[in-house]
Amino acid sequence: MNLTTSINNQIFGTVQCPGDKSISQRVLMIGALMNQEMIVDGFLHGEDPLSTMNALNQIGAGITVDENGLVHLSKRNHVFQNCDEPLNLGNSGTGLRLMLGLTSGIGLNLSFCGDESLSSRPMSRIINPLTEMGANIKSSSGKLPISISTTSLQKQYRYELPVASAQVKSSILLAGLASGSGVEIIEPIQTRDHTERMLKNFGANIEISSVESKNIIQLQPSNKLVAKNYTVVGDISSAAFLIVAALISNSSGLEITKVGMNPSRTGVLEALKKMGANIEVKNQRLESGEFCADLTVKQSKLKGVELTGEIIPNIIDEIPILSIAAAFAEGETLIRDAAELRVKESDRLQAVSDGFRMLGIAHKNFDDGMSILGSSESLCIEEPIFIESHDDHRIAMSFLIAGLKCSKPITVKDCKNIFTSFPNFIELISSVGYKLEK
Ligand code: S3P
Repeated sequence: MNLTTSINNQIFGTVQCPGDKSISQRVLMIGALMNQEMIVDGFLHGEDPLSTMNALNQIGAGITVDENGLVHLSKRNHVFQNCDEPLNLGNSGTGLRLMLGLTSGIGLNLSFCGDESLSSRPMSRIINPLTEMGANIKSSSGKLPISISTTSLQKQYRYELPVASAQVKSSILLAGLASGSGVEIIEPIQTRDHTERMLKNFGANIEISSVESKNIIQLQPSNKLVAKNYTVVGDISSAAFLIVAALISNSSGLEITKVGMNPSRTGVLEALKKMGANIEVKNQRLESGEFCADLTVKQSKLKGVELTGEIIPNIIDEIPILSIAAAFAEGETLIRDAAELRVKESDRLQAVSDGFRMLGIAHKNFDDGMSILGSSESLCIEEPIFIESHDDHRIAMSFLIAGLKCSKPITVKDCKNIFTSFPNFIELISSVGYKLEK
């Protein structure tokens, strides 16, 4: 599915932010493990969380969705089951990595597969600690296909994260939770803490402290979780596309409601504010242990900034769209310490650079980032331009937003991957004035 942009300079309206992808996947896994009645509201019905739901149902979780989109977890009178068919996690790194932890902890015999992108992504970062915990995991040189077989895990496990990854941290926590093992994780750089918050929300014995500026996350071996209905806040990573659209358009007034404001995810707002963005945060509140707020965004004159060091894990998914903001900001933006972008759904540093080359945006590539020389002027497009999405949702949406600053429509190729994280992107962006044609 190719998408072609339209000529538009105005973004006005109010939209509700789609549900958070990380939280939607976690609430299914933790919810299934709790084995109690629970209703989840605000769930993201995107392909990634749905792959996770299917995988959980294959092992007998019995999760259903009603006609209003509410997700129902129920009390089963059977234990989780092995399954002959592989669990297919599609495009979802979070789904695969967290499910590997959860199911190793439960102690099942299973095999896992995924799409081409997921099959090329590194899984040793999960396999190594889970194997140290006692899991039996076979992989194809640290990649899919992967199979696990029943064992019992160590009673106590301590691990210092060698990569700043919430997926690795969460996978180990879920393995510990499911197997009744005590876990201590040392996290040198803060990554998203949705798992820790959700476990606390359901009453787990989990403590987070800080020693010499490292987080110490301790999950006790025994946990009596109590289910209660859960509301998923909006995904700030999805909101980021709408925010940048409003910032770079010629005229805008956009309200985005129910945006997740977890401090380990709001780096994108910090970065944009540093660039000069006019973003107002209102009605801060707490939903199921996560902060959320309503944002008002207005067209702004942006300037280049430096994005390096500890902020990077906090903005890791927003760097492609921040690069677009940087391309239309005056001066230079420098992004470093972001080599992790090379192992996301695509090599995102390469993918952004390829798109920039097609649009004639001046930039330099580094192994761990790029520098972008921006200008607030619109791009003068002379002939039809086709940009590769590299089958990556965030690359596709980023360059569709860049189309707002192009003198003629541009086409982004193979955009179907958008449905993994933002299933109503086309309708939502068109409802605020920016039409995308199939
Ligand atoms: C996620 C963690 C991040 C992020 C991904 C979602 C999660 O990945 O990029 O989109 O839900 O835990 P890493 O853990 O690999 O940094």
